[in-house]
Amino acid sequence: MKSKRLFAAMICGVAVVTIAVGWLPLSGSVAQQPGTGQRAAFMQLKLQPVKDLLEAIAMEDYDKIVASTERIHLLSLDESWMVIQTDEYRQHSDEFRRAVVVTADAARKRNLDGATLGYMQMTLNCVRCHRQLRNPE
Ligand code: HEC
Repeated sequence: MKSKRLFAAMICGVAVVTIAVGWLPLSGSVAQQPGTGQRAAFMQLKLQPVKDLLEAIAMEDYDKIVASTERIHLLSLDESWMVIQTDEYRQHSDEFRRAVVVTADAARKRNLDGATLGYMQMTLNCVRCHRQLRNPE
C-alpha cells in the first residue's frame, strides 16, 4: 500500500517534470537562434510518444511502453535530431538513448519499477540536454 502510494507520487512528479521540460527550450534557444522553426517542429514530435509512454507506465501497459520507446528511439536516430554536432550533444543523445533502451528492456521483462526508473532517467536527459543547449560552456 505504502509503496503503491510512493509509486503514484513518483509518477505524478515525473509527469510534472515532463510537462515542464516542454517549455524549457522555448525561452532560451529559440530566442538565441531565430529561424529554427523546422527544428522546433521536429522536436515537438518528441512529446507525443513521451506522453504515451508515461500513460502506458501509469497503466502498466507493457506493450504500449515498448511501442512508445521504439518511437522515441527512432526519433532520436533521425538526422533532424542530430542537428548539433558537438561532443556534449552526442553524449547527451547517447545517454538519452540508453535510458530509452533501459525502459524498453524493463518493460519486456514486465518490470514496472525498472521501466519507471528508465523513464525518469530519460526525463533527466531531456532536461540536461536542454540546459546545456541554453547555457553552452
Ligand atoms: C540530446 C539533446 C536533447 C534531448 C535528450 C532532448 N531534447 Fe528536446 N530539444 C533538443 C533540441 C536541439 C531542441 C531544439 C532547440 C531549438 O529549436 O533551438 C529541442 C527542443 C525541444 C522542444 C521544443 C520545441 C519547440 O517548440 O521549440 C520540446 C518540447 C522538447 N525538445 C522536448 C523534449 C523532451 C520531452 C525530451 C525528453 C523526452 C527531450 N526534448 C530531449 C535537444 C534535445
